[in-house]
Amino acid sequence: MQKALEEDRKIQDAKSVQETLDLMRGKLEGIVPEFELAIKAELAFKINQLKKGMNAVILAHNYMEPALFHSVADYSGDSLELARISAESDADIIVFCGVRFMAETAKILNPDRIVLLPAEKAGCSLAQSITGEDVRQLKNRYPGVPVVSYVNTYAEVKAETDYCCTSSNAAAVIRYLADKGHDKIIFLPDEYLAKNVAAETGIPILFPSRPDGSKGGDPENLKRVLIGWRGRCEVHEKFTVEDIENVRAQFTDTVILAHPECSPEVVKAADFSGSTKRMIEYVRNIDAPRYLLLTECSMGDNIAAENPDREMLRLCSVRCPHMNLITLEDTLKALREMRFRIELPDDIIKKARRSLDRMLQIK
Ligand code: 13P
Ligand code: SF4
Repeated sequence: MQKALEEDRKIQDAKSVQETLDLMRGKLEGIVPEFELAIKAELAFKINQLKKGMNAVILAHNYMEPALFHSVADYSGDSLELARISAESDADIIVFCGVRFMAETAKILNPDRIVLLPAEKAGCSLAQSITGEDVRQLKNRYPGVPVVSYVNTYAEVKAETDYCCTSSNAAAVIRYLADKGHDKIIFLPDEYLAKNVAAETGIPILFPSRPDGSKGGDPENLKRVLIGWRGRCEVHEKFTVEDIENVRAQFTDTVILAHPECSPEVVKAADFSGSTKRMIEYVRNIDAPRYLLLTECSMGDNIAAENPDREMLRLCSVRCPHMNLITLEDTLKALREMRFRIELPDDIIKKARRSLDRMLQIK
């Protein structure tokens, strides 16, 4: 887990707006414009004062914008790390600077604590792509076949799921079930992550035909198979092999990292693929002339702020519209007005918890 870095801790402990601004400038000069820094330092100072008095903890996904990420987050990380941190938290209030499915995950793991999501509409195209009823229909069609769901799903889907996973441990979860003798595994809802895991584990993947008439393969004919769903991340699906070729033509020595929500063709053409945490570690640990990250753009800024000696190339036309809804302004409002509380029915929490507990046990 990534506890706030030493420098970021100092920003959180600053005694005045001016001190907050000076420290933020030291970290973010050249990344966040000066006029924005002044406004954001004031908000960050207020948030840091308030959260201490309320025994609140702020968890920030790696995609948060750099000023928020480096000034108020007690912990940052990828989906798996943040789920683990929330499960161990003893704060009265968890403010989740991420998207709804992540805040729901924190609530399922902490039913008695208050979990706040600063922007009510911070969703996710993957989570939106499938419902609990869709999973029930699949289970009726393939009785006894275990269901693995990517954590980018809403609680009602997790409640119908046997094992959750994140991009960090998806292949490990699939291998675990295959080793237990399951020759068919339902793997939802990300088409590209499933194809990438299929390539990694050597288990073929099929997308069955749908009641809406869309055609697919027949999993009955294969001995071992993953049964997929055609959800997509609206950000990562936009990266193309052509993007990679263009960058390589201009800068031949660029190391290219792609999130596993990118298409299999993009992942294959990249030098490395891994969760947001693994990408950050890669840049930290492997020295290269320059890097290109095929993922949400703010993460490149966050890495650049932490590693000023590293040259990060940007393809910033693609932003996650949901992650971008989380601002310092709304984080302050979340604490002041205790909004937007995540509430889930008890039976859903109970059922969804099983699949998350199993996820947390598999590395
Ligand atoms: P990570 O688990 O790699 O942080 O990914 C979450 C996500 O939503 C990527 O788009
Ligand atoms: Fe969802 Fe994609 Fe945004 Fe991640 S980047 S939250 S998968 S829409």
